[in-house]
Amino acid sequence: VGTSKLIIASDHAGWSLKSFLKAHLPEIQWLDLGPEDNAPVDYPDFAQLACRSLLEGKAEKAVLICGTGLGMSIAANRFAGIRAAHVESLFSARFAAEHNAAQVLCLGERVTAPYHALEMVKVWLATPFSARHKERLDKIESGKK
Ligand code: RB5
Repeated sequence: VGTSKLIIASDHAGWSLKSFLKAHLPEIQWLDLGPEDNAPVDYPDFAQLACRSLLEGKAEKAVLICGTGLGMSIAANRFAGIRAAHVESLFSARFAAEHNAAQVLCLGERVTAPYHALEMVKVWLATPFSARHKERLDKIESGKK
């Protein structure tokens, strides 16, 4: 699927989809940062753990899952250098990679069917970044308008 090692993390509302994706993409070496079960937890704790690990180089990409995918994406995008894309369509999953070089994909278990989520992960992983968008990404990091 393009990337062999991926971070994955969720909260309680994304825990089942996390398990589903791991089971259906066995060719990926998953670095599962938790939680270990679906007992209530706070999604920012897991978004922050995953983003810190990503920035430390423990993997090149991460999948974050909560109920909607929104909380994870908001928390992840607070980190400089992290481009987290919340997606609900194959179109967005493709362009998250191609135009935005999103190295974090945020999914919502409560709004996305499991096999649709699986396809979105596959498309995101299989799509290369289009270098003509690099200057725009640089502007995000530098804060230029
Ligand atoms: C947890 O109930 C829920 O708020 C969380 O999973 C997520 O959807 C937040 O954005």
